[in-house]
Amino acid sequence: MAQKQYSKHDVLVIGGGGAGLRAAIAIAETNPSLSVAMVSKVYPMRSHTVAAEGGAAAVINDNDSLDNHCMDTIAGGDWLPDQDAVELFVREAKDEMVQLEHWGCPWSREPDGRIAVRPFGGMTIERTWFAADKTGFHMLHTLFQTFLKHDKVTSYNEWFATTLLVEDGRCQGVAALELQSGRIEIIAANAVILCTGGAGRVFPFTTNGAIKTGDGMALAYRAGVPLKDMEFVQYHPTGLPGTGILITEATRGEGGIMTNKDGYRYLQDYDLGTPLDVTDPDHPVKKSMELGPRDRLSQAFVKELERGRTIPGQYGDVVHLDIRHLGEKKIDEKIPFVRELVTKYVGIDPVYTPIPVRPVVHYMMGGIDTNNYGATSLPGLFAAGETACVSINGANRLGSNSLTELLVFGARVGKAAAQFAMDHPKLDLTAIEKQGEDEQERIARDFIRKGKGTERVATLRKEMQATMEAGAGIYRSETGLIETCNKLAELRERFSDVLIEDRTLTFNTELTSALELDFMIDVALAIAHSALARTESRGSHQRTDHPERNDEQFLNHSLAFQSDGAPRVDYKDVVITRWPPGERVYGRKK
Ligand code: FUM
Repeated sequence: MAQKQYSKHDVLVIGGGGAGLRAAIAIAETNPSLSVAMVSKVYPMRSHTVAAEGGAAAVINDNDSLDNHCMDTIAGGDWLPDQDAVELFVREAKDEMVQLEHWGCPWSREPDGRIAVRPFGGMTIERTWFAADKTGFHMLHTLFQTFLKHDKVTSYNEWFATTLLVEDGRCQGVAALELQSGRIEIIAANAVILCTGGAGRVFPFTTNGAIKTGDGMALAYRAGVPLKDMEFVQYHPTGLPGTGILITEATRGEGGIMTNKDGYRYLQDYDLGTPLDVTDPDHPVKKSMELGPRDRLSQAFVKELERGRTIPGQYGDVVHLDIRHLGEKKIDEKIPFVRELVTKYVGIDPVYTPIPVRPVVHYMMGGIDTNNYGATSLPGLFAAGETACVSINGANRLGSNSLTELLVFGARVGKAAAQFAMDHPKLDLTAIEKQGEDEQERIARDFIRKGKGTERVATLRKEMQATMEAGAGIYRSETGLIETCNKLAELRERFSDVLIEDRTLTFNTELTSALELDFMIDVALAIAHSALARTESRGSHQRTDHPERNDEQFLNHSLAFQSDGAPRVDYKDVVITRWPPGERVYGRKK
């Protein structure tokens, strides 16, 4: 490897998506004299936030209330969200959204100029703000251009953080690989924030971009920080077969219906939660099956499949998402990107033909255990966005809460990390320099120079993804999870014999893929072992051998700690403030 190099900043943000950019802006605004650095393995505008479509939730209209938003989030998460976190999230959401508009985000509007909101799954009242169906694209642009206005920011674009540097019980920076040159640099910092997004690529079929490999989760886990609620993996009910491209929930929010092979709206046959009281004269309710919670809709697909009522296709069975009745004008105005995606990737026009869809891995409810300021158990290390688990999402995230989450908790973590950096100005540079050298040596030894392995990255990755889908998919059982845990242990072992044929330094994508796979195996182990230990069914975690929710034993968060063998799984209490555990409800108040 090339010679090591050093740099030093007050706060270092790892990840250039929505949460990372919002955090960096908050740091710069907290104290403009702080030096802020951002390490991102892709150019920030390629971060996965750009792919978000449907919208971001925040209470704005008089028919809604903060309590409604809290209740929808808590019931949607099957009582696993921490209620203090949900309350502050809901309270701070609107100001963040208005702030984003002031920075330039073009929220869609009603004809009279008010912010337009659309219904989303699991909501009892519509509160999802949107920018047509390219909400993530517009939010990311807005955040990026605002970030660029600050002059004390340094960008390490196309750099890959390979390890945290921890000394005196404190995180003091990272070692990172510059992808263009192949050199490892020590980036010292008084505080480090992980904003690297989720880990959908641990599964074979996902809406997630190729970059979502759980890097931040694995970095924290290896440094002794627990991963919380990792068993909760969200399947989105409407992905395009083959590619896994998301067909936004906004499609159903705007009135799309789902039908099986007989053209029947099969969701009417399933328990999507307790319907709101349709007879209450003060709150008339519109029943909307397609806007039930995501976990229940994805589970209903599996049942339809088992009953032989789905439609066989080139990439497995599908059901239909039908929007023909909305008409071309509405489709082009409200969900133009859906029409574009389906036309380009399926070769049909949804104005005239139903869209084939099936459930697809979309989001990790679990992640790095943090408090409400994004602080982890390792001083100096913070996290926000999908890589973190605060937790507001519990066992099943409500659609459109995550874009708002990255704003609210991105801002909070930025302020908290800035304060930490000001309070802890001293670093042990000699010690972390040594750690950086060790990391440089590890990568050279284990990956670049070895050249003798027999295992291919692609083979191991494929086997990991297949075993995750088989054992830790929509429905799970003890037998299946044990098989998956055993298979992952085998893959962890085989990984030590991985072969990197490409010895070049410039953009060595084979090396990057190996480093990513190394991280993903850790994340997969945490998911599978946490799922095995939770012998109940809750939200997205459905155990066929334990079909009931068990509040007595499992109204708590799992914490997976790295250990020598399998991860050790422990628990901590869920915070309940005002909403005692109850039934999940669905339906929409008019
Ligand atoms: O369907 C969607 O547009 C996804 C939104 C979300 O995951 O929040």
